[in-house]
Amino acid sequence: ANSGHHAIRGHIVTVVADPFLSSDALVEHTDGLIIVEGGVIAAVGPYAELEDRLGPDAHIDHHPDGIITAGFIDTHVHYVQTGIIAAFGAQLIDWLNTYTFVEEQRFADKTHAAAVASVFFDQLLSNGTTTALTFCAVYPESVDAFFEEATRRNMRMAGGKVLMDRNAPAHLLDTAQSGYDDSKALIEKWHGKGRNHYAVTPRFAPTSTQGQLDAAATLLKEHPGTLMHTHVSENLGEIAWVRSLFPEADGYLDVYDRAGLLQPGAVLAHGVHLTAHERLRVHETGSAVSHCPTSNLFLGSGLFHVHQAKNHTHPIKVGLGTDIGAGTSFSLLSTMNEAYKVAQLTQYPLDSIKMLYLATLGGAEALGLQDRIGSIEVGKEADLVVLDTKATPLLDFRSAQVQSLEEQLFVLAVMGDDRVIQSTYIAGDVAYSRDGH
Ligand code: GUN
Ligand code: ZN
Repeated sequence: ANSGHHAIRGHIVTVVADPFLSSDALVEHTDGLIIVEGGVIAAVGPYAELEDRLGPDAHIDHHPDGIITAGFIDTHVHYVQTGIIAAFGAQLIDWLNTYTFVEEQRFADKTHAAAVASVFFDQLLSNGTTTALTFCAVYPESVDAFFEEATRRNMRMAGGKVLMDRNAPAHLLDTAQSGYDDSKALIEKWHGKGRNHYAVTPRFAPTSTQGQLDAAATLLKEHPGTLMHTHVSENLGEIAWVRSLFPEADGYLDVYDRAGLLQPGAVLAHGVHLTAHERLRVHETGSAVSHCPTSNLFLGSGLFHVHQAKNHTHPIKVGLGTDIGAGTSFSLLSTMNEAYKVAQLTQYPLDSIKMLYLATLGGAEALGLQDRIGSIEVGKEADLVVLDTKATPLLDFRSAQVQSLEEQLFVLAVMGDDRVIQSTYIAGDVAYSRDGH
């Protein structure tokens, strides 16, 4: 439970502005203190300046060897695909038909959904992820299982029922009307309850009729503050298919644009092949892209050009997504590592501060939650992660040679994964501890 007043001490590192656009985005306190009250950060700064503010019986968690940063935000993940990570040999559409649409049918069973949700949330926490925007399955039961688990763990989570009324197995289909009705009931049940956010979730243009996309837009208008979550321009074959299904639209993104689905709080997964004009529309509408490098490499989808998305004239909000189960790791550190390599192949050196931004505040901005989460600042919720720079013998050896914070963060991103996560805090409370205390 939220004890009234406690504190966390260590090497605090947090990104408080967009480093693609601003040159001093990083805040560091080498011996810092975070004072938490009611789950919220009441003060943060140098320990020496803040220790007087602690009462005599205040409890301090001291992490002398840990880097404390904001909890990671996964802006695109499918909890219902936890069981099909590492499915061999297919690109997007074949992968969906062969593995995904088979697996997701199991989530009509609430017991199964609850069991997988429990595994999924354990994975988030042991990877330092404190917020995720999540696809559920088409079945309302799968959404109940998700939000029940999120509520139990007091995590700021977003998710929704998949809308899909064509081009999938009959058992996975809803209709424009039933998808609308089920989503509405789920919004009323879960949105704004505790730390939960509902996301209206049309899977992608190929599996929704125009009527269903219109119904999704109606849901968003009727429930301000709900998110919109879908996929766009991930794979070249997919894009050609969308063009044939919606010949009247001016490309893939325009299908969503015409339906009225693009707005702040709309998160588009992948966007690997967006054109310059499409990127401009994403910018103009205040929508966001979730960059999912492990997935894009695993499915052979292509290389996302992060510096194009973050260009100075029309920057797009970008966060990182694991995209489990097409993605191959729950770790946002591993996802940063792959983002770095993808950027290398586009001739762009993605530095560690930008990577940390994408995994924290950038994700919060993509979800429109930057007032609550994404950095360690007064008034934000104390969702934190402690990174162990000595987590493995090789990391210990390498970390001993670093010359700067930027280099240390880069080493953690490139070499790190769940072994580096020492503790994860949710609203100021320890929700995961690697060493079990
Ligand atoms: N496009 C439509 N559905 C999916 C999905 O489940 N995963 C990925 N990676 N892309 C999709
Ligand atoms: Zn996805």
